[in-house]
Amino acid sequence: MRDAIIEVLDSGHWWQSGNGRAERLEGWITDFHACLGTVAVTNGTHALELALRALSIGAGDDVLVPAISFISTATAVSFVGARPVAVDVCPDSLCIDPEDLRRKLTPRSRAVIVVQLGGIPADMTAITEVAARASLAVVEDCAQGLGARWAGRPVGAIGAMGTFSFQAAKLLAGGEGGAVTVRDDPGLLERTALLANCGRPRGSRTYDHVLIGSNFRMSEFHAALLLTQIASLGQLQARRESAAASLAAALSASGLGTPVTSRDPRAEPAWYTFGIRMLAEVTSQMAIGEVARGLEARGIPASPLYRPFYATPAYRDGGANGEAGCPNADRAAQEVILLHHRLLLGGQAGVEAILEALHGIVRSPHGR
Ligand SMILES: Cc1ncc(COP(=O)(O)O)c(C=O)c1O
Repeated sequence: MRDAIIEVLDSGHWWQSGNGRAERLEGWITDFHACLGTVAVTNGTHALELALRALSIGAGDDVLVPAISFISTATAVSFVGARPVAVDVCPDSLCIDPEDLRRKLTPRSRAVIVVQLGGIPADMTAITEVAARASLAVVEDCAQGLGARWAGRPVGAIGAMGTFSFQAAKLLAGGEGGAVTVRDDPGLLERTALLANCGRPRGSRTYDHVLIGSNFRMSEFHAALLLTQIASLGQLQARRESAAASLAAALSASGLGTPVTSRDPRAEPAWYTFGIRMLAEVTSQMAIGEVARGLEARGIPASPLYRPFYATPAYRDGGANGEAGCPNADRAAQEVILLHHRLLLGGQAGVEAILEALHGIVRSPHGR
């Protein structure tokens, strides 16, 4: 990794100036997803904003988003001037519920953002059906989903566009970074690339900007960091899968919690987080934030699930989602904790340490 950074430093090519590392990264992402093309960008939040702008979504439009996600999924919609409409999540997977998606459609609905939450793929078959009938564009927010598959296909190129984050905690981590994939529409790919590059074609050195864009370009340093990690992705994924299977089995036997996952055989999760829905045995004794703090105190980094976006101060006074009608999301926010993917690299000993910490919390809720 150090060598890769030094190479960029010594080369003097620090930004995307043609045939560099960002293009190589884009090529890998495109091949991995078997899609038309990729634009490497600054971060996952910008990737979402860029995708929505490329789809010409803005004022007067509604975009359906799952109630539970990192806040950028909703704020990207607000940032381009559209309105995020909250859709409830499925109780098992915490991914967007296709049935509620159908119920929440409005005459202004233009797109749906599907979040592959925690690396668990949503039911893309049902979602694309609802979306096709309502003429919605499907954007997959795969910030947490790199490597997950639905029905044998990698997420990120099932919808019209996919967005990715390479922030420091992600499965492919460059400190910051992101990408937008385009499944099959050449015009959309060209528009995405132009919008990300101040409105001019890549490689152009003229000032003939063909549309009003912004600068979302990934730096060559970030691309270099990311390229060094690609070879180990498959092996890390296999280790997470194996630990997730034994943690799920141990949890079921423990009577303390149940794993957040999809029961659908078409779903192959990437395990960005391992979510645990705590059972009444635990939640009757303490709030979910205390469970997370108790685990931290016992050496297991954990966080409570995201709050539904409409319950954050940023949206609470917004009115649009005052009656969001997302009971599964509201309940999950009280019951679910998230363990970071690094914990799944600790093998069987790591799984046992997690279980031991959970038992410790029940034995002694306020002690260590
Ligand atoms: C689901 C989801 N969407 C979007 C983002 C935003 O990505 P970034 O932090 O790279 O802006 C994140 C980041 O955590 C995320 O988890």
